[in-house]
Amino acid sequence: MVDTAHRNDGAEGVAGGVGATALLVAAARAIETHRPDSLAQDVFAEHFVLGAPASKGWPVRLREVPDGDRNPLWGRFARYFGLRTRVLDDFLLRSVHAGNARQVVLLGAGLDSRAYRLAWPSGGCVVFEIDRAEVLAFKHQVLDGLSAAPRATRVPVPTDLRADWAGALPAAGFDPAAPSVWLVEGLLFYLPPAAETYLIDTVDRLSTEGSALAFEVKLDKDLLEYRESPLYTATRQQIGIDLLDLFDLSPRPDSAGKLTGKGWSTSVRTPFDFTRLHGRGPLPERNDALAGNRWVFADRPRR
Ligand SMILES: C[S@@+](CC[C@H](N)C(=O)[O-])C[C@H]1O[C@@H](n2cnc3c(N)ncnc32)[C@H](O)[C@@H]1O
Repeated sequence: MVDTAHRNDGAEGVAGGVGATALLVAAARAIETHRPDSLAQDVFAEHFVLGAPASKGWPVRLREVPDGDRNPLWGRFARYFGLRTRVLDDFLLRSVHAGNARQVVLLGAGLDSRAYRLAWPSGGCVVFEIDRAEVLAFKHQVLDGLSAAPRATRVPVPTDLRADWAGALPAAGFDPAAPSVWLVEGLLFYLPPAAETYLIDTVDRLSTEGSALAFEVKLDKDLLEYRESPLYTATRQQIGIDLLDLFDLSPRPDSAGKLTGKGWSTSVRTPFDFTRLHGRGPLPERNDALAGNRWVFADRPRR
């Protein structure tokens, strides 16, 4: 289907390549969880970090970071992930509790533990988790070791989102005739543009009225402009992850515009909007790698 030539083939799971970014987000969630003014609670996050050789020595508490909140990676960037987690937790819970969608799909789920930690409606809520097989295998190993029990029916769907994945969801029990809630958090900028277009078209095709979608994009024309920003530099130097090397730097499709054209009602927000709403989180700064980040919320209205 789409471009399969990619420098990360996924065979290494969370040990390297784009899979390791799942550990970065888990470490940020662990730090957020233990802040006195925490925005989101994820008690599983630190176990992923402590359980993977690739994240040996990474902090799971802010007090383990010598310069604390002044550290661009474990201070501001981690807080960004904490805020994102909270905002998207709220989106998912609002969507399932306000409507009658009982199918949730996490695309590029990584080490997202929402199936285990959110208060899903009782009676028949299913969470489908799509990521590469090796990443999901690591996740299961850690959660099984904790004897963790999901709070909804959880269905892992090991799939590469650069391939033709649309059939994998119905094959796993997803019902396209029933409403659904979709989350694409921290994923699209790693995918080739054709895979993003395919993903948005597929979500549209598999979503009936009353469905909702949230996704994150980067609107920057040239991401390399921020190569020497504090945030990318610290991530490279402190944990050896070069995000710009993992991102697909090709021009992106206008996914929000496309959904609007297909009849979805969309709103595009900056993370800073939510920092102001919650009274904590990152604010704009000079040479800011977060400047182009947008969180898009889309609903397919009922007629
Ligand atoms: C930054 S992590 C975000 C994980 C999760 N959404 C979160 O916010 O905690 C990016 C995730 O996307 C997954 N991913 C990247 N490219 C993928 C692909 N082609 N197919 C499936 N998953 C992919 C990675 O394995 C990784 O788990």
